Amino acid sequence: MYTFLAQFTTIFSLIACVCAEPAPLPQFETLFSGPLLIGQFNSVTGPLGVRLNAPVLGGNLSDSSGNMVATIMTGPGAEHGIVAADGTFFPDARITLQWTADQKFAYIDAHGVGQAGVKDMFYAHLETDSPTWNSLNARFIIANLTFGEPSPTLTFFGVKSESGGVASAVMHNQTPL
Ligand SMILES: *[C@@H]1O[C@H](CO)[C@@H](O)[C@H](O)[C@H]1NC(C)=O
Ligand SMILES: *[C@@H]1O[C@H](CO)[C@@H](O)[C@H](O)[C@H]1NC(C)=O
Repeated sequence: MYTFLAQFTTIFSLIACVCAEPAPLPQFETLFSGPLLIGQFNSVTGPLGVRLNAPVLGGNLSDSSGNMVATIMTGPGAEHGIVAADGTFFPDARITLQWTADQKFAYIDAHGVGQAGVKDMFYAHLETDSPTWNSLNARFIIANLTFGEPSPTLTFFGVKSESGGVASAVMHNQTPL
């Protein structure tokens, strides 16, 4: 009985220790931003809501110093997001980039939430074989699309590695060989 109580108390004090220090919030930094050109959409009113199908017609991305880092390819990219019954828009898009530095490509898969034709935010799953940009494969990236004139603006944000990037998590958990 005493042992049980002692263990119980220990567990409780451990929980108290964990709770005492609030977990640090993820910190993001702006990676690139630029115009995204989207074509006319057609819609499919299906069982889940109104699916919007629209081609990605182009665009480009620049870093925070204004240097162009990639063009958005015309052809493979498209939006297939859905407007739910309550008006919430769930973007569901694919975008292909071509990097200025080495002409290699990146595939981006986007899923998020927002208002159709106004603004939305999404998680950006990115895959690239660019030697210049391959560190992005291990980065948690979100993006923000804001509609405006003359075209919508797309901005990518990467989580800073000290606040939970995959690379630093792997390093901290690794036992030396
Ligand atoms: C980026 O795309 C926009 C929209 O198509 C275009 O006006 C602009 O000239 C492009 N910038 C560069 C550097 O190609
Ligand atoms: C989204 O991007 C726009 C610029 O395109 C910016 O003004 C706005 O503050 C951004 N919103 C968020 C939540 O990051």
